[in-house]
Amino acid sequence: MRHAVRIAPSILAADFGQLGAQVDSVSEAVELLHVDVMDGHFVPNISLGPPVIASLREHTALYLDCHLMISDPLRYLAQLREAGADGVTGHIEAIPDPGPFLVAARAFGLDAGLAINPPTPIAAIEPFLDQCDKIVVMSVHPGFGGQSFIDATLSKISALRESIDSRALATDIEVDGGVDVHTAGSAWAAGADILVAGTAVFRTGDPVAAVGDLRRECESKNDS
Ligand code: DX5
Ligand code: ZN
Repeated sequence: MRHAVRIAPSILAADFGQLGAQVDSVSEAVELLHVDVMDGHFVPNISLGPPVIASLREHTALYLDCHLMISDPLRYLAQLREAGADGVTGHIEAIPDPGPFLVAARAFGLDAGLAINPPTPIAAIEPFLDQCDKIVVMSVHPGFGGQSFIDATLSKISALRESIDSRALATDIEVDGGVDVHTAGSAWAAGADILVAGTAVFRTGDPVAAVGDLRRECESKNDS
């Protein structure tokens, strides 16, 4: 039997002026918190880094799932661990030879993952699946919240699911970008384990209800 979907609200869509309260507003309802780190180089936007992660760590016991949209993620692993990250995901487009990153992350006690952008085929990360706790399949071009889900991602999710299952690996598939009540069910049905949602959670009047709506969309696919 498949595990229940895990929902990871992305704080990129939160009100940073009240970040603690925003995290509290979802903490009882979710399994992990998605933290987008951007460097203005790998992606054309700058978001946050280790000091904010350290503040989050002081504030919450939630798993901090750090998505590193940065050019040289290996360089920041020690700082991220020190700040209190639980998991780190680097982009295969930034680190074509990700072995040292994955090994170093795990040596620091971090869960290690790789992310792939929409144009990147899953073949790029397949050789490293057994070294990854998770693969983040980007369903938008990274850099900004609030974009529309790219439907062509669905076939990548299902191919990756097949590849992971056929090798009996425990690697999770996380889908990131444009996840809302219209797209969550398809991403889940294609084989996702974790759904990231920023706008669909924090830009609503009731984040807990929004998380419940996403779960229901996934559960409805289990019945069909
Ligand atoms: C995009 C980020 C996503 C983003 C998701 O670069 O990696 O995590 O915050 O936001 P929504 O859910 O609004 O697409
Ligand atoms: Zn992200």
